[in-house]
Amino acid sequence: MDTTDLFTPLTLRGTEIPNRVMVSPMCQYSCEGDGLATDWHHVHLGSRAVGGAGIVMTEAAAVNSRGRISPEDLGIWSQDHADALAPTTRFIREQGSVPAIQLAHAGRKASTYRPFDEESGPVHGDEGWRPVGPTDESYPHDDPLVVEELDQEGVEQVIEDFRRAAELSLDAGFEIAEVHGAHGYLLHEFYSPLTNTRDDDYGGDFDGRTRLLREVTAAVREVWPDDKPVFVRLSATDWLPDRESWTVDDTVRLAPLLEEAGADLVDVSGGGNHPDQQLPGAGAHYQVPYAERVKHEADVPAGAVGKITTPQGADEVVRNDRADLAILAREHLEDPYFTLHAAQELDRMDAVDVPDQYLRGF
Ligand SMILES: Cc1cc2nc3c(=O)[nH]c(=O)nc-3n(C[C@H](O)[C@H](O)[C@H](O)COP(=O)(O)O)c2cc1C
Repeated sequence: MDTTDLFTPLTLRGTEIPNRVMVSPMCQYSCEGDGLATDWHHVHLGSRAVGGAGIVMTEAAAVNSRGRISPEDLGIWSQDHADALAPTTRFIREQGSVPAIQLAHAGRKASTYRPFDEESGPVHGDEGWRPVGPTDESYPHDDPLVVEELDQEGVEQVIEDFRRAAELSLDAGFEIAEVHGAHGYLLHEFYSPLTNTRDDDYGGDFDGRTRLLREVTAAVREVWPDDKPVFVRLSATDWLPDRESWTVDDTVRLAPLLEEAGADLVDVSGGGNHPDQQLPGAGAHYQVPYAERVKHEADVPAGAVGKITTPQGADEVVRNDRADLAILAREHLEDPYFTLHAAQELDRMDAVDVPDQYLRGF
């Protein structure tokens, strides 16, 4: 078949992804101790591999303890973290999916309660910690924490923490590493003029503000094998057109620089850097046009995410060459078997492997 569709394999470097569906990173807030994966992660991620997704990506895994969003977030800063994830990556691979990890630092948005906790905002008492950011300005919470501005040494440590996290991820058996540069977390806080008012090498103009993300990407690429892909997730825009902020044009300008730094695909998301953001409507496929611009104007492979919920919709994104991957989050919470169901609906059962144990259900 000549047409590229949702079930056409994608090869990035030496890694073959069996289809174009990716399970988007989704925090589960279900760790034990300091960021160790539990049975929940094994079953949650494992089920989505059984369900046929080409890539199963973990939630944001913090590269150091202060980089967690909540105390229950996943971490990847010690051998224990890698060991706790290894059975899950093995299982994902056994199902024919590609295991991926999102490497993250929550920056000034760290140390908050989980969305389903009774309390919200910054964690009180001993359970919480002091977040770091590009400046000491806190995210506009009701009850602001005092943020510590990262100095030069602190910035260099963050780069080292991402590098070490990538090494540990490789040891845990992951085949794709994604740098989380979106949603108002540390790396996004640095590249957006809205949150970065520094006047050192990591602030100022476009070059200075994007330096940290580019150096983190290069550090991850340095330790990530040549035959395995690195992704970067960006917020394509801050959705604050009335203020000096990050725009889709900036994203199109940055994408090739990330590719030069070693990224193979940009996962194109949006927003999260300020509570006043103005979404121009969040209907079906609302962020796909941003991925399309990265793919065609910047000429960098792109993944599209945001309200892609149907087999036909996901297929349309790939078939019409709007993006290389269809990335689905919430739909995968509702249907772990989205890809197998899509194959049924789109008449492409030839392209998926239903596990023998489940054949009688399909
Ligand atoms: C429960 C939940 C947790 C999330 N956690 C993360 C995360 O860890 N990292 C990330 O980049 N995005 C995270 N997101 C955002 C999703 O990956 C995705 O970009 C967003 O939900 C839009 O896609 P959707 O419309 O398919 O849900 C999360 C979303 C949800 C619903």
